[in-house]
Order: sequence, then structure tokens, then C-alpha cells
Amino acid sequence: MKGIILHGGHGTRLRPLTHTGPKQLLPIANKPMSQYALEDLKKAGVTDIGIIIGDVYPDKVKEYYGDGEKFGVNISYIYQEAPKGISHAIRLCKEFIGDERFIVYLGDNVLRKDLSDYTKKFQSSETDAMILLCEVDDPQRFGIAELDSEPGKIKKIMEKPKNSQSNLAVIGIYFLTPKIFDIIDKLKPSWRGELEITEALQLLMDNGNKITYDAVTGWWKDTGTPEDIIHANKLVLDSIGTENQFLIDDDTQIKEQVVIGKDSTISRDSFVSGPVIIGKNCTIGPAVRIGPYVSIGDNCIIKNCEIENSIIMNESNINSKISIHDSIIAHGSTIKDSIVPKKHKFLLGERSQINL
Ligand code: G1P
Repeated sequence: MKGIILHGGHGTRLRPLTHTGPKQLLPIANKPMSQYALEDLKKAGVTDIGIIIGDVYPDKVKEYYGDGEKFGVNISYIYQEAPKGISHAIRLCKEFIGDERFIVYLGDNVLRKDLSDYTKKFQSSETDAMILLCEVDDPQRFGIAELDSEPGKIKKIMEKPKNSQSNLAVIGIYFLTPKIFDIIDKLKPSWRGELEITEALQLLMDNGNKITYDAVTGWWKDTGTPEDIIHANKLVLDSIGTENQFLIDDDTQIKEQVVIGKDSTISRDSFVSGPVIIGKNCTIGPAVRIGPYVSIGDNCIIKNCEIENSIIMNESNINSKISIHDSIIAHGSTIKDSIVPKKHKFLLGERSQINL
């Protein structure tokens, strides 16, 4: 079996974060979100992986994943010149897939449970496609499946329906066979100008092919907005455990599930309340309170502030008497000079400079 990770798209709802890189490289608990997809595929025994790259800094994706050797997989890159939809991206992989069954994983989807069980189920079945369904509160944001009264049967698959009887989202992980390629050739662009995966799946069914489904257990997150990313960060951190690669002073106050990278220091008057992950070579303190649900990247300097439920990326420097919450602060940003303690919510693109 082969795997495909979709790494294109413009990520407009995530600007300014996506002005300097593809959204799928944004970190969740200090790891690019698409790396979770890659690791899930690997765990399921899928090591031949095609990554579809688009026109938003594709070289950053190649630079990070390379030929896949560091991650124990083989990576091929397939270029999609414009974001023309998931089905369009899949169609570009016809040659790469050959006549094998395959898994398509949207690089901006994060799933709690790994794919091994689903993959086994799909491989041992005769089905032409398998989708995963998850209940959602806002069906108009997703592909939605309506189930038939006959158990195990799907009645209808729709893209972002305005009014739907069903709240079962078709999540961004699809188990497919090469039959899908001919189906995609028959599709027309949707109202948003894309070849939709949901329309391909519906047409596959209409042409008499069998599609099965399984329910997602545990959580699933589509990270389309900054709020989604902050929420995904919280969900991933909830199961982070504790791992300290440095010696903590007896009187440094560190509570619950905290992962701290090599050569990072935390001053004695600082307080870290997990779940929290801190990268390598960071200076934390004096007078810092971090947590819960905070990810801090490598080489950061954090002084005199409070941070809660936020993502601070590599090389950021915060030295200010402020309280930061529900924020994303991208690589190399600086916040300094606040005299008056105040609460702030930030969405800062790379190398932002804030003088308060
Ligand atoms: C896409 C698919 C949709 C699916 C969703 C999952 O939506 O079109 O069917 O439910 O991914 O993340 P988009 O992210 O393009 O809005």
C-alpha cells in the first residue's frame, strides 16, 4: 500500500501565519502538523509516501522531509500548480500509485488514534473505498455522509451542505483504490472551483462501487483556523507525558506533564504547569509562568510574562510583563517593553516586532 499526504493549498484563513510557509508545517506540540500524518502512515506500515506540494513555499516542505530517510520512509514529491481540490491532487498521483490500494491523508488533519486498525480492515476487505466518519457540531464546514437505514451502508456524501440531516463529517483520511482515478476524470469543478473528493466518492457509489465507513474513536481535528490549531495543540499536549532532558533544581516549580528539551534552563522563580512542551536551548525566566497547554519551540527567550494555551515558535523573544493567552506567535518574533501588566491575545506572523 502507498500513502499520499496533501501539503498544498493557500491556508488563507491562517494568514499571516501562511505568508511565510505552508500551513501543514505549522507546529503542534513542536512538530509540523503534517509529520503526524507521516508518522501515522508509517505506523500503519505505509512507507512509500507521495507528498503533494503546492505553490506556497514548496521548498520548505522538501527541505524538512527530504527523501524521507530521517523519518524511516521513502518520499516522492508531486507538484500541484494551483489548489484545484483534493480530487485534482489525487489524480496527479496516478502514476505514483500504479495499481496499489492507497491512503490519502490531508496534511492539515490530526487524528488521535493511529491508522493501523483501519488499514488492516481496508486491506482485508473487497471495498473500493473506505472513509472515516466523526460527529461534528458544524456540518456546513465539512464533507458530510448520510447513512442508509440498511446497516453499514452510506446513502449520500455531500460537500459542506447548508442543511443536512446528518452531522457525520467525512474526515480527511481516505482509503482508496485506483478505481478513483477514472471517476475523478469525470468530475467538474464545484462552486468553489475545486474537484471535490466528496463528489468523487458519491460518483464512485453511483457507479455501483462499494464504499464502507468506520467511526473515528478519540478526537480528530481539521486545523483550518488559528483557533483550531490552538485546540489541536491542547489535544496533543494532553497526552504528552513527562520527559526532561536536563536537571531541574529542587526548587524549580514544575507540575505535571512537562517535556523540556536539551540545554533549556528555567529560573528558580518561574513556574511551569503542564501540559507544556519546551524545545531545546531555551531560556525561561526570570519571573515566568507557563501553562497549561503551551508549546514553546527551540532557542526561545521568555522573560517576565505569563503564557497560557498558546504556541510560541522557534527563536521568539518575549520580555514583557504581559499575560499571553490563546495566541500563536510565529518564528523569530519579539515582544518587549510593557510596563503595565495586561492580558493579550496575539496572532503574529514570522519575525513580528511588538513594542508595547
Ligand atoms: C476538505 C474536504 C472535506 C473534508 C475536510 C476534512 O475540506 O473537502 O470534505 O471534510 O477537508 O478536513 P476543506 O478543508 O477543503 O474545506
